[in-house]
Amino acid sequence: PVERRVDDLLRRMTPEEKVGQMTQIRLGKLRGNCEWNAGPLREDCMKAVLEDAEVGSILSGGGDAPNPNTPRAWAEMTNEIQRYALDHSRLRIPLIYGADGVHGHSNVLTATMFPHQVGLGATWNPGLMEDLGESTGRAMRATGVFWNFAPVSDLARDTRWGRYYETYSEDPALAGALAAANVRGQQREADGTASLAATAKHFAGYSEPFNGHDRAPAHLPVRYLQDTVLPPFQAQFDAGVRTVMINSGAVNGVPAHASKYLLTEQLRDRMGFRGVAISDWEDIRFLVDRYHVAADYREAIAMAVNAGVDMAMEPSNAAEFTQGVLAGLRGGAISGKRIDQAVRRILTLKFELGLFEEPFVDPARADGIVNGADRPLARRAAAESVVLLRNEGVLPLSTGARKLVVTGDAADSVARQLGGWSVGWQGVPAGSPLPPTTTVLQGIRAAAPNANVVSATTQADAVTQSGDADAVVVVLGEDPGAEGEADTESPALTAEQQGLVDAVRATGKPVVVVLLTGRPQVLGTVAQAPALLAGWLPGSEGGGAVADVLFGAVNPSGKLPVSWPKTIGDQPFSYDQPRGANAGESSNYDPAFAFGHGLSYTTFTTSAPTLKAGEVRRDGKVEVRVTVTNTGDRDGALVVPVYVHQPVSKVLTPDRRLVAFTRVELKAGEQRAVEVPFDVERLAVTAGDLDATGRPEVAKGRYEVLVGEGRVGFTVR
Ligand code: IFM
Repeated sequence: PVERRVDDLLRRMTPEEKVGQMTQIRLGKLRGNCEWNAGPLREDCMKAVLEDAEVGSILSGGGDAPNPNTPRAWAEMTNEIQRYALDHSRLRIPLIYGADGVHGHSNVLTATMFPHQVGLGATWNPGLMEDLGESTGRAMRATGVFWNFAPVSDLARDTRWGRYYETYSEDPALAGALAAANVRGQQREADGTASLAATAKHFAGYSEPFNGHDRAPAHLPVRYLQDTVLPPFQAQFDAGVRTVMINSGAVNGVPAHASKYLLTEQLRDRMGFRGVAISDWEDIRFLVDRYHVAADYREAIAMAVNAGVDMAMEPSNAAEFTQGVLAGLRGGAISGKRIDQAVRRILTLKFELGLFEEPFVDPARADGIVNGADRPLARRAAAESVVLLRNEGVLPLSTGARKLVVTGDAADSVARQLGGWSVGWQGVPAGSPLPPTTTVLQGIRAAAPNANVVSATTQADAVTQSGDADAVVVVLGEDPGAEGEADTESPALTAEQQGLVDAVRATGKPVVVVLLTGRPQVLGTVAQAPALLAGWLPGSEGGGAVADVLFGAVNPSGKLPVSWPKTIGDQPFSYDQPRGANAGESSNYDPAFAFGHGLSYTTFTTSAPTLKAGEVRRDGKVEVRVTVTNTGDRDGALVVPVYVHQPVSKVLTPDRRLVAFTRVELKAGEQRAVEVPFDVERLAVTAGDLDATGRPEVAKGRYEVLVGEGRVGFTVR
């Protein structure tokens, strides 16, 4: 029936109405001075965008919120925009409103903010991702936002890149599994409101700028593109993600927005994606202004639409864009068929979400659904994301401690703890009221109510106070930021941060360093701290969660989803880099902490793996079994990663690549047999010489499964 309804509508639409649907405009254009200023919606601004240009979608880029920034105000605002759009649309086609809910409905001041993706990657817990996605979707829908520009599906391979923290992992299998679970949660059927569209972004190769700078070009051999970059997207397409957002950068000399190869041949023909492909912010114009691949804007529009862009995000001037598409249509540069294809996808999305039936939300319910929702879930997610990197007998701390000193730039900083895309684009804006957040200082105070918890804000103070303390907790962070603004040429702890840790360590007291950073920082002298935890950007409940781990209420189970570089020169960096010709460490992989590393307060053993069958077909499954035991005296969770090694392969394959994993909760002393199956398809690689362009295929022959210290061989027939 959706297909029939779309056909019917398409038949009745004018070309102007169609190209309006292909346009998404920012909220700022509907209010204030019809440009950037905040303020109430203005009838004349709305008229220009919604009535004259017949725009079909509005977005709030990070931080573009109603004033006041409350859930109820959001719901009232999106309803008002929707009402205006419907009343001025001849065919009463509803709008779809989009926003960046990248860690919860994080544009909203009172919403619960979850950890950023890199921390969630450390949980290796798809079930948890599904719950977080569901919670985010519920909050967004309650405010009339039915399109979420998340999750990020790019890979974390270069810590200089400003958006590193927005990714789940350097590993395609881990990133894909977590992103797919998040999508399933976000898009889970809603009660009472329309449903939600998640977004796989940024298609594709966005996280691989050659010099670490956001949006710099990427040079990606097709083999690497197909075998490493695209699989996390495929996992989400298989999970039914409804939209993709396009990479703003250029890949192999062609801006992704102009690449028919990426947007049609790979995305549609090979990967089978059927939903809406939206541009990133103003990116069609950049084909002229920045990339110089088109002589003028109209040529750029034709290029992008023909390559496969269905909707233009914030082409800044709606009428100029829609007129450009219409000119392309009249002049033959863009076919009517291609426009119909794009509009068909957009209308299908709106029908499938139920927006034609339920275009409005109930503002009276919004505050109740969003404010402070799912804080226990946020705390659990943050606690599961903590990775215990080092522990020389310091942790857990005793709740009976008499005096604890808490110091460091992120100990009591809401902005640092939340990171970018929190209330504002670059993080909580200066002067903004603070979103409800438990900082680490507050978390420690709550966990050890009888201790004298001293907050030391200078190095001298910290040293003096440490004299008679039981332990010192140093919490180090980085400036919040987003996109290019968060790039750095020096992803390392600063001299001041290292100096503070050195100074408190010199007192001889037990020192715990907590890193609240969105990327692994090169540690310098801090690498020798007796206890070291990565807490990432842990969100609203991060302080409580870190305290849970510090005092042992939660046994840490986080495992690094990324490799922790030893030096700034280790870029790009990942555990699966293929080997080189020089002897020694096979692939020069020499991290400070390896991918998958993470300590616990208990001990585990993992038996050697066994297989159900030693021979499998290319379309079969490998069924791996291991027995895991909690050999310590505390309950805990263990992540069991399953890697595959191919002893001989015609093209380079890594020494090990992750093909499956599971996370097992084990009581003290408990033993359990677990099965971790994987599809043989996972072993596919793109064969061929330098100019390889074929599809990935599974080579027949010998392989080995590696789990823990054990290995077992199998043959693909
Ligand atoms: O969704 C984002 C994208 O990730 C980066 N550019 C802006 C978009 C909308 O805010």
